[in-house]
Amino acid sequence: MKESAVVFDKIVEERRSVRIYEGQADFDPKAVQRSIERAILSPNSSNMQLWEFYRIRSEEALERVSWMCMNQKAAKTARELVVFVARKDLWRRRQRALVKEMKRVYGEPKTKGAKRALNYYESLIPKYYYNDPFGVWGFIKKCIFFFVGLNRPMVRHGNATDVRISVHKSAALAAQTFMLSMKAEGYDTCPMEGMDSLRIKKFLKLPRKAEVTMVIGCGPAAGDGIYSERFRIPNDEVIFEV
Ligand SMILES: Cc1cc2nc3c(=O)[nH]c(=O)nc-3n(C[C@H](O)[C@H](O)[C@H](O)COP(=O)(O)O)c2cc1C
Repeated sequence: MKESAVVFDKIVEERRSVRIYEGQADFDPKAVQRSIERAILSPNSSNMQLWEFYRIRSEEALERVSWMCMNQKAAKTARELVVFVARKDLWRRRQRALVKEMKRVYGEPKTKGAKRALNYYESLIPKYYYNDPFGVWGFIKKCIFFFVGLNRPMVRHGNATDVRISVHKSAALAAQTFMLSMKAEGYDTCPMEGMDSLRIKKFLKLPRKAEVTMVIGCGPAAGDGIYSERFRIPNDEVIFEV
């Protein structure tokens, strides 16, 4: 095994969901900033980066948000909370940024590949991310996918729910990078979806279409911060070779 894999193994093995944090131990908030910056490098659908990260740091804000996390100890004792937010509503802004970036890199696209890439962002991305309030366009997309898919492989997702799932998937990947990074920095984390997402949205003054993917508590673990031995379903029940 490569040296880097040994280090990675240790980080993955040692990451646990920690529910109680040490209030007095040293904690470097810059580790949170670095970890969010690493999280931003996570893979994400079409590189649309439809995510935002809100650091909850002040005593008052920590108290309010941990109350919204059902007063879980993982939130109440955390030295910092990070709210991972899925922003499907920002698709138009991100699409424009990506088109601008492609034009900066390629200039007027000449190669077939460059033309295809620009067309993907200029034409296909809006068709995918746009959905009307009545779901008509989403239904039409599903029908098109169904009929085209009869003869060849075809993507199947495109309605409003599919877009939501896709945006949350990317935000969750960022969350995992964040948690592994925090472990590498010597700190612990606990992801939480046991929270009042509506109240958190209001507290953060987020628009209606933004959605909280999860809240992550972080800090130095207390001695009794891990509640139980790690348990996983045996590998042969979940890993298959085809
Ligand atoms: C999406 C998601 C939501 C979770 N929500 C909570 C939560 O609200 N409270 C909590 O204590 N743990 C929560 N967890 C942590 C899981 O319970 C934990 O990851 C699982 O039991 C496996 O333990 P491990 O992380 O220590 O390996 C959540 C984990 C994920 C991925």
